Amino acid sequence: MLVFALTGAGVSAESGLGTFRDPDGLWERHDPRRLATPEAFAADPVLVHRFYDWRRRTALSAESNAAHAALARLERGLAARGGALFLCTQNVDDLHERGGSARVHHLHGELFRARCLGCGTASDWRGDMGPADLGVEARCPACAAARLRPDIVWFGEMPRGLDAVARELRAADLFVAIGTSGAVYPAAGFVAEARLRGVPTLEINLGAADNAGLFDRAAYGRATEAVPAWVDEVLGRAA
Ligand code: APR
Repeated sequence: MLVFALTGAGVSAESGLGTFRDPDGLWERHDPRRLATPEAFAADPVLVHRFYDWRRRTALSAESNAAHAALARLERGLAARGGALFLCTQNVDDLHERGGSARVHHLHGELFRARCLGCGTASDWRGDMGPADLGVEARCPACAAARLRPDIVWFGEMPRGLDAVARELRAADLFVAIGTSGAVYPAAGFVAEARLRGVPTLEINLGAADNAGLFDRAAYGRATEAVPAWVDEVLGRAA
């Protein structure tokens, strides 16, 4: 069985990382146009670096939760049965990896990586978060230019690896979206592509997402409860 799982901020919510569009969400408290666009970075790189430095520190202090662990268990369980999980996350934290997932597709980039505007090299960025690592003085390990930016897909930029996503969507036997509001495309449109192929679709969320009408089934509840229960069901069926 080939499962395509799309995750969003709701998977990391119970690890203490905020979501974006819930009442206390990040984009309810901060203007994304000033913090998460190429234009914002060009206008005020120090502000943007400080924002992502704060997000990195917050993510570093978080722990993965039972939903992350369940998806890692699903990855192992499907592989043991000759199947596979394609875990496509919109999240930029590394909690799926810390929860045990070996293969994670970061559609919107990664908090703990920086990209050089000089030579394009992407490099790890989880060292000491001293003032130099706020980014404005940090230097590219490849070309030494002080032109690093967060390796995050900002609004108006192209998500990562859409060819691989399309290939996996074409091959999937089951599509599940977990903890995402269905507000941002192209990710919010993946379910429609699965439906076009007649693939069963499931939404696991705290409440109905914007695109809830496109799912055959829904399991509403907290991710740390609903995801393990669903994984038990899938692995039981795939046994
Ligand atoms: N368990 C399950 N779902 C939850 C939980 C929880 N404990 N807490 C919140 N949710 C759900 C909310 O109901 C909401 O539907 O998670 C979803 C979070 O939605 P958003 O805040 O919009 O986050 P997301 O869908 O990941 O945003 C997509 O938007 O700003 C961009 O790049 C950013 O990747 C992000 C993208």
